[in-house]
Amino acid sequence: MAQRFFLNRSELNGKKVLITAGPTYEQIDPVRFIGNYSTGKMGVAIAEEMQNRGAEVTLVLGPSSVKVNTGIKLVPVKTAEDMFTACEKIFPGCDIAVMSAAVADYTPVNNALEKIKKTGHELTLQLTKTKDILKTLGEQKTGKQVLVGFALETNNETAYALQKLQTKNADMIVLNSLQDAGAGFGHDTNKITIFDKDGTTFPFDMKSKKNVAIDIVNTIIQQFYAKN
Ligand code: CTP
Repeated sequence: MAQRFFLNRSELNGKKVLITAGPTYEQIDPVRFIGNYSTGKMGVAIAEEMQNRGAEVTLVLGPSSVKVNTGIKLVPVKTAEDMFTACEKIFPGCDIAVMSAAVADYTPVNNALEKIKKTGHELTLQLTKTKDILKTLGEQKTGKQVLVGFALETNNETAYALQKLQTKNADMIVLNSLQDAGAGFGHDTNKITIFDKDGTTFPFDMKSKKNVAIDIVNTIIQQFYAKN
C-alpha cells in the first residue's frame, strides 16, 4: 500500500515549494569573501524530486555550479542577506519550505570598496550575525505550511538537531553528521537522520544524494499529506 502510494508521481500536484541551497558568500572586499564548502547538490536534488512529484518549485540558490532542471524557478543569490530577502518574499505563498542552504552565520561589518592591502602582521575582521532565515520563517509560519530545516553537526548531533527543531519552530529537521564518512559537503552521497516535531526519528543509510532527496520528500509526504 505504502509502495503504491510512493509510485504515484503527482502527490504534490498544486503544491508550491521553496527550497534554499548552496553556500552564501559574504564579501570582505572586491576580491575576497567568506564562504563554506557547500556545493548545493543536496538542495538541488530535493528541488528536482519535489518537481518529480508534481510540485511547483522555487529554488533560492547561493553561488553554485550545479545544473538545475528546467521548470524549476531559479532565484540566484549571493549573500545571506540576499537569501533572507528572497525567502521572506516567496515563503508566504508556499505550502512547503525546505532550508538546505549552508547560510553564513556571520558577515563582515564593513565591505571595503577597494581591495584591502597587505600591511601589518595581523588583520582583524569584525563580523556581525546574519539573520536566521529558518528561524524567521518559523515565526511567520501558518498552521498549513510545512517548514523543514537542516542541521549540520560534528558532535552532539541529536541534541543539537532537536534543539534546532524546537528553537526554529520547524516541523522537521534533517540531520547531516560530518562524523559519517561520505556525508555532507562535496560528496555525491549523504547519510541523514530526520526528526519530526512529534518526536519520531527516521534513520537512513548512506545513499546517493538523489536517493536521499527521495527519502526526504517521501517522509514529508508521509508525515504531512498522507495521514488523512
Ligand atoms: N539557517 C538559516 N539562516 C541562517 C543560518 C542557518 O536559515 N542564518 C538554517 C540552515 O539553512 C539550516 C538550519 O538553519 O536549515 C541550521 O543550520 P546550521 O548551520 O546547522 O545551524 P545554525 O543555526 O547556523 O547554528 P550553529 O552554526 O550554531 O550550529
